[in-house]
Amino acid sequence: MDLSAFPRVALGSWPTPLDDAPRLTAALGGAPVLLKRDDVNGLGAGGNKLRKLEFLLGRALEDGADTIITFGALQTNHGRQTAAACAKLGLRCELVLTARVPMSGDSYEHSGNIVLDHMFGANVHVCADADETAAVYEKVNHAKAATLPIGGSNGLGTLGYVAAAAELLGQLGERGIDNATLVVPDGSGATAAGIALGTELLGWPGEVRAVSVSHTAADALQTLEILTTDAAGLLGEPAPRLAHVTVTDDTVGPGYGVPTPEMWDVLKLFAETEGVLLDPVYTGKAAVKLREIAATSEVPVVFLHTGGLPGFYGYAPEAVARFGSA
Ligand SMILES: Cc1ncc(COP(=O)(O)O)c(C=O)c1O
Repeated sequence: MDLSAFPRVALGSWPTPLDDAPRLTAALGGAPVLLKRDDVNGLGAGGNKLRKLEFLLGRALEDGADTIITFGALQTNHGRQTAAACAKLGLRCELVLTARVPMSGDSYEHSGNIVLDHMFGANVHVCADADETAAVYEKVNHAKAATLPIGGSNGLGTLGYVAAAAELLGQLGERGIDNATLVVPDGSGATAAGIALGTELLGWPGEVRAVSVSHTAADALQTLEILTTDAAGLLGEPAPRLAHVTVTDDTVGPGYGVPTPEMWDVLKLFAETEGVLLDPVYTGKAAVKLREIAATSEVPVVFLHTGGLPGFYGYAPEAVARFGSA
């Protein structure tokens, strides 16, 4: 597995910590839980997109791009990290956003990630529908612009999490852990795809549990198959079997970005046992599944913390109502 042939820019601080979580483990009453802290990797408040962006922007720069265009929901973490990376690299950043979540109000529409997008100097275009998105895209696109997919999820972006899988398995090996279940939040797909492909290529005997926060399990699995096949192709490898991967969708609740009571409970649990903050859209819903998996697992369980804290502030009124403000 040689990633050195791919152009790459340095954006994050690697390796990210792999932390024990003894008080969370005790509270869950099952297998030891470890936290892989991809939420604390440095640039622009951090998160999982930096690993993908190292490859995506590496290619864009090599192709001579001076502008990056990408898409997402209003509170996209991918957009915020892309904006931060563009600021660092001196690239123009166009964020073409749509309201995909049935949430509104000042916090959701103007705070959280969006205010940070502006601070990083991105041009933020909020579109009402697909037609407006297409029209804005046509306007901002030009010969020296590189377009990144939603969530940075394509074969090339997936390589970021193939690299992460190697990093994580190395850290587990140093602790003498040769089998574990890896729990990964799954949205646009490349994070889980990279972990799934990397662990398979490295012959890891453990399971990967991809926890969908938006799509049905069947759709998420299909995306996983496409992304892993594309990324494997880039590496000159055949499509993986993915026999060690399970995708679930039963913690999504009413929909993408719509809070559930279990999600708030688990945010509080992580905060009060480990001082670790999750987000309501991705890591919170994935951690609801982690709680269930850890309770019955016979091997250690690693939770991939993919970041997203700025999005929490988009949900400030709900958080205040639930946890109090004074
Ligand atoms: C905080 C956070 N966690 C997890 C994910 C899901 O990662 P992926 O889109 O690679 O499936 C995202 C994607 O937007 C995210 O922002």
